[in-house]
Amino acid sequence: METIKGNKVVLVGNGAVGSSYAFSVLNQGICDEFVIIDLNEEKARGDVMDLNHGLLYAPSPMNIYAGTYADCHDAAIVVLCAGAAQKPGETRLDLVSKNMKIFKAIIDEIMASGFDGIFVVATNPVDILTYATWKFSGLPQERVIGSGTILDTARFRYLLSKEFDVAPSSVHANIIGEHGDSELAVWSGANIAGISLKKMLEDYPEKKGRMDDIYINVRDAAYDIIKAKGATYYGVAMGLMRITKAILGNQDVILTVSAKLDGQYGHEDVYIGVPAVINRNGIRQIIESPLSVAEQQQFNRSVETLKAIQAPFFN
Ligand code: LAC
Repeated sequence: METIKGNKVVLVGNGAVGSSYAFSVLNQGICDEFVIIDLNEEKARGDVMDLNHGLLYAPSPMNIYAGTYADCHDAAIVVLCAGAAQKPGETRLDLVSKNMKIFKAIIDEIMASGFDGIFVVATNPVDILTYATWKFSGLPQERVIGSGTILDTARFRYLLSKEFDVAPSSVHANIIGEHGDSELAVWSGANIAGISLKKMLEDYPEKKGRMDDIYINVRDAAYDIIKAKGATYYGVAMGLMRITKAILGNQDVILTVSAKLDGQYGHEDVYIGVPAVINRNGIRQIIESPLSVAEQQQFNRSVETLKAIQAPFFN
């Protein structure tokens, strides 16, 4: 696999998630050229101006401008945030038809530019649309990555960190599966500084009853936030920034992203949230975490949920 060149990032879709992602990338100083593409050219122009006015306080220079699909030709990464977002009461899977059409049009334009880098997909239903991006683009599967359960895992680690009074970075616990209602917590592998969660709950039995609530709060977080403020964007934007950093920094870091299975976890031909090693070539390797029997059954159901949705579009 040849390594992608340069560190130009193109954002397609400058809504709440896209613009929060742009702001996060600027503040982290992780690339030196950043292009914003949106149907609403005036909004893109305004955000470019607004971001450029913050450059004085950014950690490093960044050439930020509004562009067109032609600007994708030499991009290292194209981040797809375009499409309709969930409305209150809507599931992520409800969005599939309208966003599938939008993606086909966008990806045809991007590939016509000669783009040969890495796609990072955020638009929901992200697993289905990442599969669609792989199919429509024809790029190698390791160079098509979805945000997957990177945010769900962050939510999971945050809530466990509060429960056990340690930093989220000291909690090792993953959410895998669909980025949606069928996602699952890998309780069997969860640990804090190498001490299994099972052992932690033996030592703190009063916390056992809160574990189910933690999972439910993670799974339903987006519905709660959408009810409160109309949309979610900061958390997922930070996750997209983390994936971008892993790629451009050639970090070989393990993140729970939406990756295409080729037999791992007993499944194939589906994009779904799993731990994967991310570097400058995209997905270097999918990590097969040991799952309990119950976790494997939940994962199987999650795969079936996604395959049932994507089948009418691709079979
Ligand atoms: C959420 C959106 C990104 O989970 O699906 O907040």
